[in-house]
Amino acid sequence: MGQQPKKGNVLNIVGARPNFMKIAPIHRLMDSSQRFDPILVHTGQHYDEKMSRIFFQDLGLPQPDIYLGVGSGSHAQQTGAVMVALEKIMIEIKPELVLVVGDVNSTMAAALVTSKLHIPIAHVEAGLRSFDRSMPEEINRMVTDALTDFLFITEASGRENLLSEGIASDKIFFVGNVMIDSLLSHLNKAKESDILHILQLNHQPYALLTLHRPSNVDNRDIFNDILSALEAIEKNIPIIFPIHPRSRKMLEQFQFIPRIDRMRHVKLIDPLGYLDFLQLMANAKFILTDSGGIQEETTVMNIPCLTLRNNTERPVTVEQGTNTLVGMDPRRIVTESENILAGRAKTGRIPPLWDGHAAQRIIEVLENN
Ligand code: UD1
Repeated sequence: MGQQPKKGNVLNIVGARPNFMKIAPIHRLMDSSQRFDPILVHTGQHYDEKMSRIFFQDLGLPQPDIYLGVGSGSHAQQTGAVMVALEKIMIEIKPELVLVVGDVNSTMAAALVTSKLHIPIAHVEAGLRSFDRSMPEEINRMVTDALTDFLFITEASGRENLLSEGIASDKIFFVGNVMIDSLLSHLNKAKESDILHILQLNHQPYALLTLHRPSNVDNRDIFNDILSALEAIEKNIPIIFPIHPRSRKMLEQFQFIPRIDRMRHVKLIDPLGYLDFLQLMANAKFILTDSGGIQEETTVMNIPCLTLRNNTERPVTVEQGTNTLVGMDPRRIVTESENILAGRAKTGRIPPLWDGHAAQRIIEVLENN
């Protein structure tokens, strides 16, 4: 009998909520491959039950093999804590490859440590650029991509951005979108969620809101403007608002809670798990958000998305999908919401390779290299 080729250790790194649905399809395929021995490392950047553990359960991800428990802190504290903890682990395990996803602090911290130990890096969701360096994620993306050996891009803009930063074209692989792999493989399961019933939304149109960007929720004037928009919109349609811990903290700090309480049709709820949130998105009339991933998910589900930002690192969702950038001006937010309610919602098409097979393509590239 021929000898089986030795499996290589790969560290798959996750830290924050949007990482979990990106790693899930990759980790699963690596686990069943002849070539890789994946080790799941959770930095602990997100640690609340509702920001982390529930996603492992909903996505069928195994418990992390290694948990670093770094928690919250300033950017430097969080990044530094991940680096110090990961360095020890990497020296011990000597992985053949380290795979990082997305653009959170854990992503960049892992890339920095890995490159200094001369271990190859794969970055999934490379090349996205908002061209706004006041976003912490933009710094994380640029640093991570500069250090990465395998750059897996989700849309054509990623290639242009990377080439213009001097990255060699043979390191760039257009594979599609792993977040959409997870979306498509969980939509049916999400239909079993009873969240619509729990929120008494079974036969009622509603809008869904998420907000967490520091540029929106850490700024009193901007948060105030967004609340003014909600006051107008809730007169026409109920709004469900699963609130990120950071935004709740700021609502309290700015003493905005009584104002939210006065909006009878705005329902503030705890953050939701993956399946409940998918079900809520799939049935919403439209979404108001400042998230990155939700712009992509709504495009695939053909749900109108109003993005409360002035830019997006995901231009394909505006050019081809259902996404509209509305900024933070309350008049614009209200007008665009009214357009949707009047039947003038933007329609779109699904971008190339957002077909549920991105993880498969990533594994093939890695196996062949
Ligand atoms: C992080 C990412 C952001 C991503 C978002 C998704 C960075 C720079 N930001 O932002 O790109 O879109 O996750 O949610 O990496 N907190 C809790 N419980 C938790 C986690 C956080 O209460 O489990 C609170 C803490 O008060 C913390 C604050 O939220 O200080 C912010 O958490 P942090 O991880 O620094 O950034 P996010 O705003 O979650």
